[in-house]
Amino acid sequence: MKERIHLAQGDLTEFLVDAIVNAANNSLLGGGGVDGAIHRQAGPELLTECRSLGGCETGDAKITKGYSLPALHVIHAVGPVYRGGHSGEAQKLASCYKRCFEVAAQNGLKSLAFPSISTGAYGYPINEACEIALRTSLAQLKRFPQIERTIFVTFSGRDLLIYAKQLAEL
Ligand code: APR
Repeated sequence: MKERIHLAQGDLTEFLVDAIVNAANNSLLGGGGVDGAIHRQAGPELLTECRSLGGCETGDAKITKGYSLPALHVIHAVGPVYRGGHSGEAQKLASCYKRCFEVAAQNGLKSLAFPSISTGAYGYPINEACEIALRTSLAQLKRFPQIERTIFVTFSGRDLLIYAKQLAEL
């Protein structure tokens, strides 16, 4: 099972996988952080397709093409804004990861690369978010054996160490 989970540090937009996951907002009309990087690399057609999707609920995910990105698709997931941890944030974040796997499986995808959803502008503490990401993803990989490879791409070395430590403990 763990051979299907990989860790990397770098720019998510450079990863050649069936889909990279975007840490989007409810409008799906772009933003800063990884959302901004994805739209910059994908080009304007991505925004045009996103406009046709009619937004996305927090905890849900929707798929588009990848356009000028190396990845074939982008799965746009909307994570929760962290408000102290007592407003269902953990359940909403877990739902993001779960929905990404479901959307990937529905589209016959075999490889996924995730950023650390909600841990930037949305303020989710990295340790808690990382545990939710890994636990949820492990459960989904059991559900969908056809998904052969998932890569968790952190922007910083610090975050990579946190993922590596938690993955080793799972
Ligand atoms: N590649 C990989 N990871 C990245 C990249 C990148 N190019 N750019 C940023 N990150 C990391 C951040 O360091 C953070 O760990 O992605 C994680 C998520 O941070 P954000 O992109 O700020 O996403 P999030 O916290 O989910 O906030 C979403 O920010 O960009 C807006 O439109 C977006 O409103 C939404 C909000």
